[in-house]
Amino acid sequence: MNDGPYYEQFNPTTGIRRPRAWFISNAPRLSLNGNWKFRYSTRADLAEDLAPAQFDDNAWGTIPVPSHWQLNGHGSPIYTNTKYPFPVDPPRLPDENPTGDYRRTFDVPDGWGDAGIVLRFDGVDSCAKVWLNGTELGVIAGSRLPSEFDVSDVVHRGAPNVLSVRVHQWSSGTYLEDQDMWWLSGIFRDVSLLSRPAGGVDDYTVSASFDHATSGGTLRVEADVDARVVVPELGIDAATGADIVLDYVEPWSAESPRLYHGTVATAAETIAVAIGFRTVAIVDGVLTVNGERVMFRGVNRHEFDPDTGRTVTEDLMRRDIVMMKRHNVNAVRTSHYPPHPRFLELCDEYGLWVIDECDFETHGFFPLKWRPISVNPTDDPRWRGALVERMSRMVERDKNRPSVIIWSLGNECGPGRNLGAMAEWARQRDSTRVLHYERDWSCQYVDVYSRMYASHEEVDAIGRGVEDALDDPALDARRRQMPFILCEYVHAMGNGPGGMWEYQELFEKYPRCQGGFVWEWIDHALTAHLPDGTEFSAYGGDFGEEMHDGNFVADGLVFANRTPSPGLGEFKKVVEPVRITVDGSQVLIRNLYDHIDTGHLDFVWTLEERGRVVAGGNLGSLDVPPGSTGSLPLPPMPATEAETWLTVRAVLRAETIWAQAGHEVAWAQTQTHSPSLPTRVHATSTAPRRGAHTVEYGDAVFDGHTGRLMKFRDLVLDGPQLDVWRAPIDNDRSFSWDPREPAWRELGLDRVQHRTESVALDVGGLVVRTRVAPAGSELGVYATYRWRTEGRDLKLAVSVEPVGAWTVALPRVGLRLSLRREFDLIEWYGLGPDESYADSQRAARVGRFDATVEELQTPYVFPQENGNRLGIRTLQIRNALGSGLRVDGDLPFAFTARRWTSESIAAARHTAELAQTERVWLNLDYAQNGLGSGSCGPGVLPVYRLMPVLMDFGLSFSLLPAYPRAL
Ligand code: GAL
Repeated sequence: MNDGPYYEQFNPTTGIRRPRAWFISNAPRLSLNGNWKFRYSTRADLAEDLAPAQFDDNAWGTIPVPSHWQLNGHGSPIYTNTKYPFPVDPPRLPDENPTGDYRRTFDVPDGWGDAGIVLRFDGVDSCAKVWLNGTELGVIAGSRLPSEFDVSDVVHRGAPNVLSVRVHQWSSGTYLEDQDMWWLSGIFRDVSLLSRPAGGVDDYTVSASFDHATSGGTLRVEADVDARVVVPELGIDAATGADIVLDYVEPWSAESPRLYHGTVATAAETIAVAIGFRTVAIVDGVLTVNGERVMFRGVNRHEFDPDTGRTVTEDLMRRDIVMMKRHNVNAVRTSHYPPHPRFLELCDEYGLWVIDECDFETHGFFPLKWRPISVNPTDDPRWRGALVERMSRMVERDKNRPSVIIWSLGNECGPGRNLGAMAEWARQRDSTRVLHYERDWSCQYVDVYSRMYASHEEVDAIGRGVEDALDDPALDARRRQMPFILCEYVHAMGNGPGGMWEYQELFEKYPRCQGGFVWEWIDHALTAHLPDGTEFSAYGGDFGEEMHDGNFVADGLVFANRTPSPGLGEFKKVVEPVRITVDGSQVLIRNLYDHIDTGHLDFVWTLEERGRVVAGGNLGSLDVPPGSTGSLPLPPMPATEAETWLTVRAVLRAETIWAQAGHEVAWAQTQTHSPSLPTRVHATSTAPRRGAHTVEYGDAVFDGHTGRLMKFRDLVLDGPQLDVWRAPIDNDRSFSWDPREPAWRELGLDRVQHRTESVALDVGGLVVRTRVAPAGSELGVYATYRWRTEGRDLKLAVSVEPVGAWTVALPRVGLRLSLRREFDLIEWYGLGPDESYADSQRAARVGRFDATVEELQTPYVFPQENGNRLGIRTLQIRNALGSGLRVDGDLPFAFTARRWTSESIAAARHTAELAQTERVWLNLDYAQNGLGSGSCGPGVLPVYRLMPVLMDFGLSFSLLPAYPRAL
């Protein structure tokens, strides 16, 4: 004990019961969720007036339980990534320490008799003192861990009870809970009162292993009392405490989450159990489950709802899981704390591998360079008790979940001996799982070599076993025998991540590299409102925080409202568990599942000629075993004339609990016919004619001085003109590991000026030569526009030639033009339907798509370049009457269309602030720089960088009459 208050003790918890498994039995249970009386104070050192039962709380307001008080009108959310929002002076805290007092009354239901009674809190952030009927029960800490009190002797039966809880926003525990997320406080998970019948089962441990050599299983259930284990389907009716050997069981895996339902029961209490047989082992340096190497197609999941923070409903948990399963996600790391326990039961049911992570992070010591090292709780022995207790509370709570195959000691706490103590405790308690911790690269206490954001190059070296050696040869030799995972990779902040495929190739190449977990699942953007009532997604700084980390909190594959971002579609494609290729008249099917064959899939095909379906059919199914390749014959295809693509899709044959029959799991496209280039028949071309201030050429009018197109018959245009700028994406910004925006701005790419060198006319057409460069710089590019008429169409050949010593990749090279806002409908034949970029385009397929300008926008929380479509052969932009412009590329090009300029996007701070204009800004691009994952991780891979070299591209423009013309 130090001389500080309870919330500043190294381990404040007092009075709680020993940790045990989380379960709901048939013993009576009373939810204490609901509206509680509530009083908010800005300090913690208050008189404990709320404790006595007779205290008058009539003047207090109310608050829902579970919830966070900052999202219910008290105090404000704060977002910091790594820094503690108070002075680092462990375990001390500032006087300013928001505190919420909670009170409620309840009656023990009739019929509970004199059974024992337990009061359970599933999560209180961050530290609370609890009284029942004026008696102090104890102090709880460990925000995302359960705490139980035995209240049998304190509770009133047949008379009202008064429960009082004082919760502090900051406590010593906060030093152990410095995760990258909003600071949100209060009783945020369920509170319940549990009847504990005499002779009931208080705790039980299921061990259910699977022997892949024999398909036999061994079940052992330990309980704190003698109980019976009944599993009718397996003919089991046996006592606890003995091994039950079974000749044959179906194993549990994330791919086939086979659960056997049964009970663990005494005369007094019955617990429904769902048993999954599986064995986790590291064999020859490879992590296996049931004898098979496991590939993680994982995500890091925080609990988050944009309106309720970390208070999440079961419905929301299911929605997350269903969305994951539909996007080929097979694993979750519960970053960075044990989730609501129900979530893990759902992972058992739906099938997801889980790394369950302890509620432990001391990231705020990083900026202090761990000086002196003993200050970091990870190594300071004074914190050891609290840390081992945290580990034990997680393991005991979640030990019966087959989905949990790895325990993680915590996240970003640096190295330290307390990790050793936590690991030791976990190993002696549970030998059926392996241990993980990332931020001690010596891996001395764990079983898996884990890293975050290692580059492709480094992962390749690790795969080949030629990674840099550790100083300690023994530890180095040990680590070289370990499986390798990326517990975080491909940072999904804003537009991106790019480069996922290149990681996947490494995972598929090296047995040791067993996949990774995308950072992260969901944007933690809170719902807020602009002064005019417009809803927007708020991030750090939007609540007046004195210190914050901006929109770094919004880095998910899924937007806060749970619509998938394009990154999730890309991930789904990159990690698809079946890889399809077409080889002549055969479809080759490579099964990349680890445990199941492909019999649950149908393979269906479609043949599209210039995006229009001309034939299709179902090839049926094929049982390809895991790791093998099989083939299905294709029927003869009809002859086609125009560009033709064959798409083969693997779809679910039957409905599952997470998707309908027909749900697409994997697909591939192959071009079956590429026509020779069309020979156009032209009317005789006219020569351009110079007027007073214009040049007239066919149906087009150009500015005589700048050479810019002004009008194309009756269509008034502004442009096209060379554009080299994009609104920086998060991966370009100054905090990136590969910051490009500062270099771009330094060079002035956001403010280039155009100088027309010449506007030359001859019978061959109009040639406009310009030099495009920023003020104050001698670097620049020459852009030459060569216009020709072809019949009534206009042809433009653009040549872009950099001058000077360029060393950086350009944001984009293309043409920008604008039209009146009525041109709102876009139809294209190219890659779609969603956005695509050079290093994130595997989810895009060749087809014919249409969208309104609004639909083309991706609402990243922080405004940035978005909505690009690659591979465009033809684009039509039309108004409601059908008239507009058609653009054909000599080679496939890219486009974006939006109601604001790149400059407006770059100037805005929230997407909802972007004001509509009277124009549609259309970019017709040669290319853009890739996306990368630099906001936290490697930047754009060299092959996707748009280095300034000579670039040539050509487009044809034709006018669309007031009714649609076929693409
Ligand atoms: C990691 C950390 C995560 C998150 C991520 C960046 O270092 O473990 O919690 O902060 O970086 O978004």
